[in-house]
Formats: sequence, structure tokens, C-alpha cells
Amino acid sequence: GIPKFVKIVEVGPRDGLQNEKNIVPTSVKVELIRRLVSSGLPVVEATSFVSPKWVPQLADAKDVMKAVCDIEDARLPVLTPNVKGFEAAVAAGAKEVAIFASASESFSKSNINCSIEESLARYRAVCLAAKEHSVPVRGYVSCVVGCPVEGTIPPSKVAYVAKELYDMGCFEISLGDTIGVGTPGTVIPMLEAVMAVVPAEKLAVHFHDTYGQSLPNILISLQMGISTVDSSVAGLGGCPYAKGASGNVPTEDVVYMLNGLGVKTNVDLAKLMLAGEFISNHLGRQSGSKTAVALCRV
Ligand code: HMG
Ligand code: MG
Repeated sequence: GIPKFVKIVEVGPRDGLQNEKNIVPTSVKVELIRRLVSSGLPVVEATSFVSPKWVPQLADAKDVMKAVCDIEDARLPVLTPNVKGFEAAVAAGAKEVAIFASASESFSKSNINCSIEESLARYRAVCLAAKEHSVPVRGYVSCVVGCPVEGTIPPSKVAYVAKELYDMGCFEISLGDTIGVGTPGTVIPMLEAVMAVVPAEKLAVHFHDTYGQSLPNILISLQMGISTVDSSVAGLGGCPYAKGASGNVPTEDVVYMLNGLGVKTNVDLAKLMLAGEFISNHLGRQSGSKTAVALCRV
């Protein structure tokens, strides 16, 4: 059976906007976060405390965080690649952070400029600092089925990195198909390998929709016992260091599917669509959510 409740982790303001070339004003980011929270989403990833040279779009992380850290109706985690980022995040009011490792050596190098082992050492230091501040840490594993450079990634490698993140204290591990190449055919053996070392209730899935496989991949993940799903309003997204990767699975489409399955999410689809319309209007393009486009015509 599938879970009765699914926790949706909205990553639009972070994963969605990080790939946008034109700088989105801080006030628009803040308004987007507020609208997403008021739709009932329990977790909204707000921004990243990364190097502004690497991700110029999120150079205003401190200002965004200061403007939203009083919000109490949702958790607002931020990405932190190292202790420097962690300290800046906490100083700006972040109460939860996420660290991001990769199952691909090449992607680790291009995304965070170090090897997998070096990244794990850095992240142990972040986890230690977080423990002192009682800040919960989420862990990401990228390239869980494929890498833009290395191609197929063995499930054993994903399981290894996921277990390392779990052992260093991450409360949840999100498995990212960064370039969206997975199908249930590759996702099932990957999840089996990870679930052998990390309990299903500690796992989340994070699909990019490059090949339109996100919803079937989410459905089989739910059938395998996973109940946390990452998604992005209006299907915004992509990773600037993963060429060809398209947006995350649109949150509206995930909510529509879960509503159809009778799975609770606490998200009000109509309010969520207004948040999607707000950011799509600002970006000057049609929503990447088929649900949003279809329901607008009704
Ligand atoms: P580096 O160049 O090796 O780092 O970058 P460095 O330590 O040599 O520092 C270089 C400069 O950056 C220095 O400044 C540092 O102070 C500064 P300078 O002296 O040259 O003026 N710096 C920082 N500034 C602000 N905040 C910080 C920070 N750290 C150093 N935290 C680094 C290494 C990790 C910093 C860099 O590669 C980086 O920021 N990478 C982030 C890339 C990124 O954000 N990628 C997207 C997120 S991951 C993703 O999208 C995948 C995911 O969605 C899951 C999936 O889809 O699979 C999570
Ligand atoms: Mg992503």
C-alpha cells in the first residue's frame, strides 16, 4: 500500500530559482516563499548559503532569510556547502539546513569543487556545528541514477553515500535524480540498495522531470514505502552545474496525483496554483505544471 500522508518538500525558491539567469528581486523571492507557506506546504527550502560566484542568483540568501525567518507555519531549510555557509545561515536566522553530496565523483567536482570523500569530511564538520546549535540537517545525494559525465551510477555507490550522510546525523536523506534520467526500471534497484542501509521513513525522493518520468518514479517510490517527496512549484528548476537538466517535478502535479490517490498532503491546490502563477508571471513564461495549465482553462 501507499502512505496515507505524504510530506511535500517544496524546493522552488532554491532549486527552482538557482537556475534562473536573470536575477529575481529579493522581494519577489520573499513573496513566493510566503505564498507557498500559506498554501499549506510544511517545508519550503528557502535559499542557499553557497558561494555567490558559483550561484549568483542566490547571493541575497541573507536578506531572504532575514525576511522570512519569522514565519512559523512551515520549516524553511537552506543549503549549506560548508561550515562557512552554515554559520552565515544560522546568523541570518535559519533553523534548519541541508548538505548536498553526490554519488558521482565528476558531479561532486563540478558542483562543489571537491571529491566525494572531501565533501563528506566537510559535511561531518557541518553536522558537528549543527549539533552544537541543535539545528536539524537534511542530506542530499545527487546523481542517484545517472550523471551527466559518468552516465550510469551503480546503486551501491548511492547506498554508500546515503549511509554516510545518515551516520553523520542527517535526519532525512533526499535521493536526487539530478538530470532526470531515471525510470522505474533504474529507480527501483537504486531504492532497494539504499533501503537496505537507511530506513524508508528517513528517505525522500527528488526527481527532475527532464524525460517526463517524475510521476511514475514518485508513484513507485510511494509503493516502496517512501513518504517524503521533493517538488518545485510551476516545475521551476534545474542545476546550473548539470547541463541539460530540466526543472523539478511540478508541485501542482504531485498534489493533483496525490489528491487522486486519496493521499493527504495538507496542501491547498488552488492556493498553491496562485503561488505558481505569481512566479510564472514574474518570470514571463507559462507554468511548467500541466495541472496548473489545465486547471486555468477550466
Ligand atoms: P571553492 O571555490 O572550491 O571554495 O567552492 P573556496 O573555499 O576556495 O572559496 C572560494 C570563494 O567562495 C571564497 O571567496 C570563499 O570565501 C567563498 P573569495 O575569497 O574568492 O572572495 N565561499 C563562500 N561564500 C559564501 N558562502 C559560502 C562560501 N564558501 C566559500 N558557503 C563551494 C566550493 C562549495 C563554496 C562552491 O563550489 C559552491 O558554492 N558550490 C555550490 C553549488 C550549488 O549551489 N549547486 C546547486 C545546489 S546542488 C543541487 O542543485 C542538487 C540538488 O537539488 C539535488 C539533486 O537535484 O540531485 C540538491
Ligand atoms: Mg535538484
